[in-house]
Amino acid sequence: MNAFLNLNPNNEQANDMIEIRLIKVEETYSIRKEELRKNMDLSTQFEGDFDEETFHLGLFKGNELVSIASFTSSNYKEFEGKQFQLRGMATKEEYQGQGLGRKLVGRALKILIDKKSNLVWCHSRITAVDFYSKMDFKIIGEVFEIPIIGKHIVMYKDLPIK
Ligand SMILES: CC(C)(COP(=O)(O)OP(=O)(O)OC[C@H]1O[C@@H](n2cnc3c(N)ncnc32)[C@H](O)[C@@H]1OP(=O)(O)O)[C@@H](O)C(=O)NCCC(=O)NCCS
Repeated sequence: MNAFLNLNPNNEQANDMIEIRLIKVEETYSIRKEELRKNMDLSTQFEGDFDEETFHLGLFKGNELVSIASFTSSNYKEFEGKQFQLRGMATKEEYQGQGLGRKLVGRALKILIDKKSNLVWCHSRITAVDFYSKMDFKIIGEVFEIPIIGKHIVMYKDLPIK
């Protein structure tokens, strides 16, 4: 056996370590492109990306960014109070179904509660409704079409006031 391979027996664990932290919007672009804009002639930059209250959250497995979400202060007509819109939620395909998106959203909800937000909402793709439902997001309104991307519906979750 090559002794060099064993210099740090914790390497494998370190590669699997999960960390969630704030990231720059530019770090979201490649996952947005691959998971949300694949084969679409659409920008990977979203409205509100650079707003003062916007934040971008990334989940890293080892050194690899594998799941992302962005949160923008934005009011939806049906709701009141301090609301944030969840945008650009995506997990790299090879890491989907491992509970990482759930972890990322869970952390985000804590941050939003600390910011005294009382509600988070999103334009959920129809294909992602079950994902948000599992985290107790509720549906409001009717299905609508976003050109090129497809069918969506508004989903939201009330947050406890801190
Ligand atoms: C939707 C998405 C973000 C989910 O991320 P993920 O890391 O795979 O989600 P998780 O593994 O944390 O899933 C949490 C739960 O939701 C379920 N789930 C996740 N995606 C689902 C889907 N598309 N349909 C049905 N259930 C889904 C999981 O099975 C899991 O259920 P469990 O807790 O009972 O085991 C990811 O599939 C993705 O990036 N899809 C492509 C881009 C996209 O559609 N983004 C949403 C835009 S609105």
